[in-house]
Amino acid sequence: MNLFDVYPLNDIEITKALGSNVWDAKNQKYLDLYGGHAVISIGHTHPHYVKRLTDQLHKVGFYSNSVKIPLQVQLAEKLGQVSGKKDFQLFLCNSGAEANENALKLASFYNGRKKIIAFHGAFHGRTSLAVAVTDNPKIIAPVNENANVIFLPLNNEVALEETFKAQGDEIAAVIIEGIQGVGGIKEASKSFLQKIRSLCDAYNAVYIADSVQCGYGRTGLFYAHDYAGVDADVYTMAKGMGNGFPIAGISIAPKFKPWHGELGTTFGGNHLACSAGLAVLEVMEQDNLMQNAEEVGRYLIEKLNKFEQVIEVRGRGLMIGIELPAELAHVKKELLFTHHIFTGEAKPNVIRLLPALNLSKTHADAFLEAFRKLVN
Ligand SMILES: Cc1ncc(COP(=O)(O)O)c(C=O)c1O
Repeated sequence: MNLFDVYPLNDIEITKALGSNVWDAKNQKYLDLYGGHAVISIGHTHPHYVKRLTDQLHKVGFYSNSVKIPLQVQLAEKLGQVSGKKDFQLFLCNSGAEANENALKLASFYNGRKKIIAFHGAFHGRTSLAVAVTDNPKIIAPVNENANVIFLPLNNEVALEETFKAQGDEIAAVIIEGIQGVGGIKEASKSFLQKIRSLCDAYNAVYIADSVQCGYGRTGLFYAHDYAGVDADVYTMAKGMGNGFPIAGISIAPKFKPWHGELGTTFGGNHLACSAGLAVLEVMEQDNLMQNAEEVGRYLIEKLNKFEQVIEVRGRGLMIGIELPAELAHVKKELLFTHHIFTGEAKPNVIRLLPALNLSKTHADAFLEAFRKLVN
């Protein structure tokens, strides 16, 4: 049997990983500023994480949501505390797309409406409704085309207001990334997020903050959206939540009242997933990782802004986009194959940095030195 060949692969096999480093099968060491696509939040094979998962595996790895799982309650309490949303409610699932799918469904159940506002450049996942609100026709199969989705330009308050004025009583939800990841590290402005909040309030629509990539402490705030100073109704999260163990969730405002059967999933919130989620939050708290993300991120952004070859540096904390001119398109590949540094990318020419939140300044300097050599 062959693999279904959907991923363009680098010819590298990773056999060992620790902190912000990984090693390949030939024992070549790499600096990981990609974090396996923003997933590694507390560093690879963190000892507390490994111990918590291993201990749990020796007790019980999985049982379904037909029984009480106290680890879910512990995770909800910890998440409420670390995220600062103590009165929100947690629904656990398995991936970012599934989190968004459930958030959109929840919104529609809540106000009985069908239309969704999403934004140009958005990426929300590949399942049916998540892909329908993703601005990439290439990955939307005919069966996923959805006439209820309205795409508007990001940060255009006038377009948003006009859409609400015309169709406000049909709009179930507005879904937005705090910082677009796949779209090239593009920030939603404070005033735009505030406008979404006030229009959703005025028209009883649901504000969904997709924090799958920009959330979980990456920008120095738990949810990137919160820098606008207004709460969303629903936050979706995944990636960094389990440091590699598949776990996702949605944090739901108190005004939503659940009913049995409204949402559900077999694997969501299983014992191992919750142990991974708890280990991540415990390390984040104990080691002040949000503060580190903010500080090392600010340091990197400041230094990167000094390179005159760079068109623009975007992002906050450890979610950074470096837009390069076409003649420097080779830099990402050379970072990997010459300097052994993993980074992410966005089309056409943006290098994305999405490292673990405990990245050190020494690691940041190693990257800056390699970058300097390549752009000069
Ligand atoms: C902002 C955002 N939302 C949703 C998703 C989908 O997450 P998953 O791949 O876990 O389904 C992604 C994945 O890159 C993402 O960046």
